Amino acid sequence: MLLITDRSDESRDVARGLALLGHCAVVALDGQGKGQGERAVAQPRIVVSDVDLGERRSVEAIREALTRHRRKDMPYLCLLRDMTARSTIQARAIGATEILPAGAAPSVLVKTISQLLQEGEDADPARGTQAFTRAHLATAAVSLADMLQSASSGKAIPLAAVEASVDAIDQAAGAADIGDWLQVVWSYDDLTYQHCMLVAGLAASFAHRLGFGEDDRRLVTRAAVLHDIGKARIPLDILHKPGALDEAEQAVMRSHPVVGHQMLVAQGGIRPEVLAAVRSHHEYLDGTGYPDGLRGHEISDIVRMITICDIYAALIERRSYKLPLLPDQAYDLLVLMGAKLDADLVRAFGDVVLKPAQAA
Ligand SMILES: [Fe+2]
Ligand SMILES: [Fe+2]
Repeated sequence: MLLITDRSDESRDVARGLALLGHCAVVALDGQGKGQGERAVAQPRIVVSDVDLGERRSVEAIREALTRHRRKDMPYLCLLRDMTARSTIQARAIGATEILPAGAAPSVLVKTISQLLQEGEDADPARGTQAFTRAHLATAAVSLADMLQSASSGKAIPLAAVEASVDAIDQAAGAADIGDWLQVVWSYDDLTYQHCMLVAGLAASFAHRLGFGEDDRRLVTRAAVLHDIGKARIPLDILHKPGALDEAEQAVMRSHPVVGHQMLVAQGGIRPEVLAAVRSHHEYLDGTGYPDGLRGHEISDIVRMITICDIYAALIERRSYKLPLLPDQAYDLLVLMGAKLDADLVRAFGDVVLKPAQAA
């Protein structure tokens, strides 16, 4: 994505919304972050502008920026600060494919952009699956943002948003192979979304691969979406600390399964299988996990699946302080964990992450 703006500060929310859909570079006509856009926008897939078209200088500046950065046929969404006929005509005159008011809700923005991208990519069959995945991921990301924000501000978890993301992830996982999925997930900058979506995508694919019916697939995906909800209450300096945590910080971090479990129990209406996954996804079959030191038969299949997806996701995730492992390296480590994990499920998981091409 490329955002062209003449008010960098106020456009920050727009940029954040765009980042949900992929890497977002910014060309600041007001001079802030100068040069940043020039380097970062080798190949944007869409241009969005938040510029005052009532100003002749701005119109000239945006024309110039569009000439430089917009390829032929690339969609261009123009955000207008007033929706008068004059501004609308001006927007069309500089080539806008679509127009929205600058104050449009983030969900409207994300939906419009997904549609524009989808239209562009439908014409290119090689990118069709990815566009489909991306559109579902955008839906999931908006719902997840809603969920995480409510959780961190102490409000009830919006269960409708959780269901919307479960739907989207289940459908995308059914249609795409995990390679497509990963490629799209990596383009999200926010690590919390990234982890949630990665674990949920892996779990949904795992459930598809095991031949689960729709209800069970959704149950597994829902458990994965919610598994780390307790992290929404962990202070950000601990959650995002680069490098190792000290003992006290580790204790706080390790409280997230119990915190998440308590949040969902207090709210009510969550199935026991999901509650178990939230509380017990760091348990190991040999009794060495936390918080309850459960053993083998005390840990359900769904929890065992989420644990496998969670560990694998952490190993392949990109962090500033560690290199991500390649799929087969990460999978080898799962195998090396031996009696901690369910060997049959680990074997089946190999089909999800190592042989996606044979899936469909
Ligand atoms: Fe966790
Ligand atoms: Fe996790």
